[in-house]
Amino acid sequence: MPHAKITAVGNYLPEERLTNADLEQMVDTNDEWIRTRTGIVERRILKDENKATAYMSAAAANEALDKRGISADELDLIIIATVTPDMLFPATAALVQDAIGASNAWGYDVSAACSGFLFALSSGARYIESGHHEKVLVIGADKMSSIVDYEDRNTCILFGDGAGAVLLEADNNGFGILDDIHHIDGSHGDLLCMPGGGSQRPASHETVDNRDHFLKQEGRAVFKFAVERMASAAEEVMVANDLKGEDIAYLVPHQANLRIIDATARRMGVTRDKVMINIDRYGNTTAATIPLCLHDWESELTKGDNLILAAFGGGFTWGATYVKWAYDGADVARSNLAEVSATLG
Ligand code: UT7
Repeated sequence: MPHAKITAVGNYLPEERLTNADLEQMVDTNDEWIRTRTGIVERRILKDENKATAYMSAAAANEALDKRGISADELDLIIIATVTPDMLFPATAALVQDAIGASNAWGYDVSAACSGFLFALSSGARYIESGHHEKVLVIGADKMSSIVDYEDRNTCILFGDGAGAVLLEADNNGFGILDDIHHIDGSHGDLLCMPGGGSQRPASHETVDNRDHFLKQEGRAVFKFAVERMASAAEEVMVANDLKGEDIAYLVPHQANLRIIDATARRMGVTRDKVMINIDRYGNTTAATIPLCLHDWESELTKGDNLILAAFGGGFTWGATYVKWAYDGADVARSNLAEVSATLG
């Protein structure tokens, strides 16, 4: 059975920055509290009201396709992880299919909050492993500013907007997505949710007055679960694959809170220099955090690197994925794409 390897990474980050200093003007908070409690310094915000998750996803998709040197009509499938779809339907994947001209692809959205990218990645991998598809695009994208309540200091300091995309193709040489362990537990769904706008509480004057169309989080309670479960998922996948801390080139964690990331790294026996951290620059972009990390660190990655991707999010959802990286990112950074193609086959 082939594995699914990541053969290209793309991203999109809006230009506009929302700094801790800006937030000090909006709610009762301060830079020191935000930095020490979360590790966040600034986030990107998509200000243009006419642009949303599909726009960011399409831009990230196009970068990934350009890097691999393929056209969109070669894609078989587009899976988008998001909790901020442009509309409840049609799926954001349909909008992206049209925007990039993926005339031979089908697609759908995955809703698993901050674990969405890992769940979508596993889904995409299965289509490659089965031999059913050759090229699958997996995107994690969220316009969190569309559901964040900028009057709620408990949540508005945490989130930002962005998108990341990876292309999956078959590999028969031991590279790619080698294992994944995922979980869902709906018994704590109320601790992190958006109560309004679904079939249970459709939009009404009352839901708007109650601010039900904004994300709600019991931060302290979610924190305790996140620390325990993200770390235990990472440990589970390491034990299952007989991996020790020293075998790991990078931990690629969901970026919700620097303290959760540090706890996961400690449990794995991985030092800070081997942890991808960009929460300081982008905040929590929900489904986009992990592919945004892969994009930022791509030039550092070398063929054969062992990566552990780990996430925890609303649902609750959580999991970890073991990836053996398939190409030298430095070649991409040098625009040596012929070399990358030769390596990937
Ligand atoms: O990505 C999906 C999963 N989500 C997560 O993993 C997020 C998990 N939770 C967290 O990251 C943290 O719980 C937060 C960053 C949200 C909050 O940090 P905390 O250390 O858990 O703070 P807390 O909620 O326990 O609040 C401590 C104090 C409270 O004041 P009192 O009651 O002790 O007087 C809050 O009212 O900090 C106060 N506070 C703030 N102060 C200044 C809460 N938000 C702010 C703020 N600025 N923005």
